[in-house]
Amino acid sequence: MSLELSKRIQRLKTSPVRKLVPYGEEATKKGIKIHHLNIGQPDIDTPRVFFDAISKYEGKVLKYEHSAGIMPLREKMKSYYDRLGLNYSIEDILVVNGGSEALQFIFTALFDEGDEVLIGEPYYANYNSFFDVLNIKRNAIRTYAEDGYHFRSLEDMESMITPNTKAFMFSNPSNPTGVVCTKEELDNIAYLAKKYDLYIISDEVYREFVYGENKAISFGTYKELEDRVIIIDSISKRYSACGARIGCVVSKNKEFMSAIFRQCQARLSVPTLEMVGAAALYDLPDNYLESARLEYKNRKNILFAELSSMEGVVTREPEGAFYSFVKLPILDGEDFAIWLLSNFNINNETVMFAPGEGFYATEGLGKNEVRICYAIESEDLKRAMTILRLGLKEYKRLKGI
Ligand SMILES: Cc1ncc(COP(=O)(O)O)c(C=O)c1O
Repeated sequence: MSLELSKRIQRLKTSPVRKLVPYGEEATKKGIKIHHLNIGQPDIDTPRVFFDAISKYEGKVLKYEHSAGIMPLREKMKSYYDRLGLNYSIEDILVVNGGSEALQFIFTALFDEGDEVLIGEPYYANYNSFFDVLNIKRNAIRTYAEDGYHFRSLEDMESMITPNTKAFMFSNPSNPTGVVCTKEELDNIAYLAKKYDLYIISDEVYREFVYGENKAISFGTYKELEDRVIIIDSISKRYSACGARIGCVVSKNKEFMSAIFRQCQARLSVPTLEMVGAAALYDLPDNYLESARLEYKNRKNILFAELSSMEGVVTREPEGAFYSFVKLPILDGEDFAIWLLSNFNINNETVMFAPGEGFYATEGLGKNEVRICYAIESEDLKRAMTILRLGLKEYKRLKGI
């Protein structure tokens, strides 16, 4: 007899974003400084009010809180949506352990094994973790670097729908492409959702980070879709508070919300102190978010100017979030990423980014693409770009490209 793990968990792969970590650790051991362009970890200070609110907490016992989240936080989340013109009531909002737990709960609530999700590729690689465990099939709509990763046409999207498709899912603004969908794209999704009776899972954790002409329109503004729209939200990026692990699931579909709530009850509650801190974040004036947006916009400008001047690199100006997906003039992004960590440095500094392949559902795509995150401060970003430029030149020379 041998001990065996479940088939479910055997399908779960190492995150492509974290796959390079051992190479990074080796480089660090050798005393090399790594510029991290590989993960969406903002370096802007978490606002002081978060820590202040926690330090003023007066409870004598750190109890389980309500499974739906503490009321002051849900109230503040509601006011935040009111300010955005999204008409949600407190019952429509459940607090969860970050957008990540939202994903897990939502997929568990909607999909049976073998059900299908309609999704544009490339998409946020971590969706795969949950898709794989639950055995959800991806019907991927291909998007291209040359189109700035926008959807090509309604027909293109429609052609991927089958009788087993249960939901459309996307992040808008997008991790990993930086796309902000146009009104026309959203209208097409809405049209398909109605025609084929699909849920829409709209991951809006980067809502405020928009730099171009398209505003990030929330699916919460589509009144006629009220029953099928599910919004994922999180304070991680908005308030630079990834470690707080606070997010929410938002929907007007009562049956669906009851399914989410039952899962919330099963995991008892979200950490109390982090909810207290998060509630204070929602009180920050709007100019806090505007200053964060301007900071990321400045970094985006630096990144785009640098990348567009590198020979053979195909890139479009990122419209939102803090990522750029780029096509490099090489054959294998992962090999290049490992080489940069293991064999290349400038004055003991190198760069780390995420190879593109892991962001695709379709085997073989994304090999010469990479995702670059620009959540690091401007001077470091400029330095990282110089290293990338020189590294790319040297790697091409070595490979005879
Ligand atoms: C598109 C998207 N959704 C959800 C998440 C999950 O974030 P968290 O669990 O920190 O809220 C992330 C994190 O990078 C993300 O990029």
